[in-house]
Amino acid sequence: MDQQLLSKTAAAMVAKGKGILAADESSGTCEKRFQSVGVACTEETRRTYRNLLFSTPGVEQYLSGVILFDETARQKAADGAPIPQYLAKKGVIPGIKGDRGLANIPFTREEKVTEGLDGLQKRMKEYFELGCRFAKWRAVITIGEGIPTHTCIYANAHALARYAAICQEASIVPMIEPEVLLDGNHSAERSEEVHEETLRATYAAMAAYNVSIEHLILKTSMVVSGKDNARQAGVDEVAERTVRVLRRTVPAAQPGIVFLSGGQSDESATAHLNAMAAMKGLAWPLTFSYSRALQNAALKTWRGQAGNVASAQKAFHHRAHMNGLASQGKWRAELEKQAA
Ligand code: 13P
Repeated sequence: MDQQLLSKTAAAMVAKGKGILAADESSGTCEKRFQSVGVACTEETRRTYRNLLFSTPGVEQYLSGVILFDETARQKAADGAPIPQYLAKKGVIPGIKGDRGLANIPFTREEKVTEGLDGLQKRMKEYFELGCRFAKWRAVITIGEGIPTHTCIYANAHALARYAAICQEASIVPMIEPEVLLDGNHSAERSEEVHEETLRATYAAMAAYNVSIEHLILKTSMVVSGKDNARQAGVDEVAERTVRVLRRTVPAAQPGIVFLSGGQSDESATAHLNAMAAMKGLAWPLTFSYSRALQNAALKTWRGQAGNVASAQKAFHHRAHMNGLASQGKWRAELEKQAA
């Protein structure tokens, strides 16, 4: 475990004005996204699309890192270099999806636990050799009648903690992602309770597995209302609830916190981040690690056509720029300046 490297990587991941692109959609998820814009999902189209994102001129100004899917970490960039090396040369840290997806937990209402711990020590060594310096593990917590159960929170917290320890041992910064889904008709209050319970259990498990808090990045969902709830919490309420939970549960020693977008609109994801980052006296830098909220516009513009690449890159650059501003709490002021 190279502590110096871990510290350097973690600090760079949350460098001022930058955030992380999640481009680690599994081939199944990629298929759904591509289908929505009429593009066949093959190894080659996935490579073409991801290279479109990675080669966007100037986007490295706003990106500290990119999370890759296993397949992408072994593919080549447009210039023939392996993609992890291509990114590193641009000053963007290559990361990897470390988990292997979800399985049902027996004796629950199809609650999920994340798989992928078997053989992980060997895989992490290989990912390090491929150039990856951080690695994500996504756990999914669903809110509904009688759920999440303690069983679900406990199973996921332990998997996240074991995962984090294995990454650190391999000198790879763990990005642990317990995502509380926004699907459902629950209130923002209920979402806050579930976030708190989930994060408390996760940090307790990490203490039990001797995970080093100084060498860890949390990727969390925001405390929003369930998407089918009639009362949708406003931007300030989301920001207050989310930061309150984080203050209660995340040690100040941690180098940073990043957010997933989770199906929020592009603009909501930016507005929420901006409101939180603008708060005074936070213990950690906050920034984005979005997939959909960074890629939606680019994917819709691209539609698999070579002639649309430049405009798709422009759309991607714009979202990255807006979120870079939001991570410093400067997005709203910039909008007002532009409107004036
Ligand atoms: P979204 O921003 O689309 O939620 O994706 C983030 C992510 O990495 C999910 O694991």
